Amino acid sequence: MQRNVTKAIFPVAGLGTRFLPATKSIPKEILTLVDRPLIQYAIDEARDAGIEEFIFVTSRGKGALEDYFDHSHELQNSLEKSGKKDLLKILEATNMDSGAIAYLRQHKALGLGHAVWCARRLIGDEPFAVILTDDVIAADKPCLQQMVEAYQETGGCMVAAMEVPMEKTSSYGVLDVSEDMGSIVRTRGMVEKPKKEDAPSNLAVIGRYILTPQIMENLHNQAPGAGGEIQLTDAIAQEIREGRDVFGFRFRGQRFDCGTKAGFLQATVSFGLARPDLRDEFAQFIADVTMLQNAAE
Ligand code: UTP
Repeated sequence: MQRNVTKAIFPVAGLGTRFLPATKSIPKEILTLVDRPLIQYAIDEARDAGIEEFIFVTSRGKGALEDYFDHSHELQNSLEKSGKKDLLKILEATNMDSGAIAYLRQHKALGLGHAVWCARRLIGDEPFAVILTDDVIAADKPCLQQMVEAYQETGGCMVAAMEVPMEKTSSYGVLDVSEDMGSIVRTRGMVEKPKKEDAPSNLAVIGRYILTPQIMENLHNQAPGAGGEIQLTDAIAQEIREGRDVFGFRFRGQRFDCGTKAGFLQATVSFGLARPDLRDEFAQFIADVTMLQNAAE
């Protein structure tokens, strides 16, 4: 039996340059899919997986993100007075228990690995999850919950993985698989952004991790890797090199890369169509737009 995973790190200190100019004043994590910011999807997923402590690694200009989790008494009173119970319930999901949330600063964007390492003192000697809010995953059972359940069986480190076309491997960390057990694979290596011809498989790592505290040690001693940044992938690959278990987990669900404009738009369409209150009108609109576009071509 493994120790429960109750802490999660949300590295949100990146510059978000792919969404400029919006991210000049709005944190990327506050960008909204239908009516919920990306960060809310990540928090809901973490809660469903049993996470109790939420650690945000932030940077300059992320104030809106911190404000988002404050209790808004004025808004709450106003909704209570007007009896808007549905809206009150929506608002409740954004409230965090006192002491459940911590904000740390990453003073310089030195990479994802560095951002995770910034949280080392709050993690201590426990296993922990890392959630990248850019990756939004639509699933019947939330992705991190699937992983926590699998981790109870395997222990070690676990990364979420999905098959991608070979020509896309250069955008991901890619797993070298030593044993394929279906939803869980054992790895013998991990390569950051390999060219198609160098990729050991087409099983790519995406933004959900369950990691052992040893990863913090590895990050502590690690030299900058690809792009001059401290890479989380390198710290995980070190585990494999030193003979400790690292598993890939093929989650069930659809992942959207909301760190890119195309991925964000796809997620917006998909989540919009999944909403009973919007579906009919939105589906009709998409059908009309598609028809007009086809006619114009
Ligand atoms: P990205 O590579 O997507 O970078 O980081 P970014 O800055 O968010 O976005 P672009 O590429 O400029 O558009 C992946 C994740 O790692 C975090 C980011 O906040 C994002 O969640 N990150 C990255 C940090 O917290 N610190 C860093 O130094 C780098």
